[in-house]
Amino acid sequence: WPAVAREVEAIERLKKERNAVVLGHNYQAPEIFNTVADIVGDSLALAREAVNVDADVIVLAGVHFMAETAKLLNPSKTVLIPDDGAGCSLADSITGADIRLLRQRYPGVPVVTYVNTSAEVKAESDYCCTSGNAVKVVRHVAREWGVNRILMLPDEYLAQNVQKEVPEIELIAWKGHCEVHERFTPQDIRDLRESYPGIVVLAHPECPPEVVAEADFAGSTAAMADYVGDHKPGRVVLITECSMADNVSVHNPEVEFVRPCNLCPHMRRITLPKIRRALETMSVAVEIDARVAGRARAAVERMLAVR
Ligand code: 13P
Ligand code: SF4
Repeated sequence: WPAVAREVEAIERLKKERNAVVLGHNYQAPEIFNTVADIVGDSLALAREAVNVDADVIVLAGVHFMAETAKLLNPSKTVLIPDDGAGCSLADSITGADIRLLRQRYPGVPVVTYVNTSAEVKAESDYCCTSGNAVKVVRHVAREWGVNRILMLPDEYLAQNVQKEVPEIELIAWKGHCEVHERFTPQDIRDLRESYPGIVVLAHPECPPEVVAEADFAGSTAAMADYVGDHKPGRVVLITECSMADNVSVHNPEVEFVRPCNLCPHMRRITLPKIRRALETMSVAVEIDARVAGRARAAVERMLAVR
């Protein structure tokens, strides 16, 4: 703990010197999430908050696509990612060229891409979405464009889970998967229910649909946290990244969290010493190719305008 306290103190001092804020995703380790992170939330909340940040520097304690999204929405600010190797298997599953080919194959079909993508992919998209607003965004696009088919990329499982909510729209999916959520199986949940009778099971919609079908509730990281806060289940399991339970349990000490979970190696790359170094050296600063930035920003802004 003294080492953690020293890092936190140094980061707080640097934040003041640089006029910086730290945005922390719900999957960040508790020693970041509960200390130096000024704003925390799911991908949607971080995108929304990035617009309102009144600071010169944003440090994104999360993965690279989140930092890119913050930079898209704040082109004049310095956006730092403490480790630019913090990627995402979903973002790596598709390129801008893939989308151009899909558009040739499905002419006139709008493209909604998950926020877990590169700026280059967002630039080829009509709308962005997150797990927190995917249903709302595809309904909006179907209505506004007068279509009943939408390309929903690149998370195959998110598309399949959203498809259950919008049977009137045909969602055409891609083969991307989250390397953390694809590892959960329906048997994992059946085993948990047998070992812990009455347990409440919450799952992220990046899980395969067979897993979501076994859960009591599925939603974004923020929606899962809200569910625990609102329902105060006696015992709960979060079928998602491991740090979620650590972070949500801080505000719900009366709830017992059962913890079979999977780690996201990309989220784990972000550490307190790396956040300190990022602020000391003002690196790695995220830059987005001017040829894609405008179009990528438009896709994110169209998403943020959907209410
Ligand atoms: P949320 O949008 O639910 O925070 O999810 C982001 C993510 O990377 C989940 O794996
Ligand atoms: Fe990407 Fe999955 Fe890690 Fe989220 S948990 S950042 S989707 S690899």
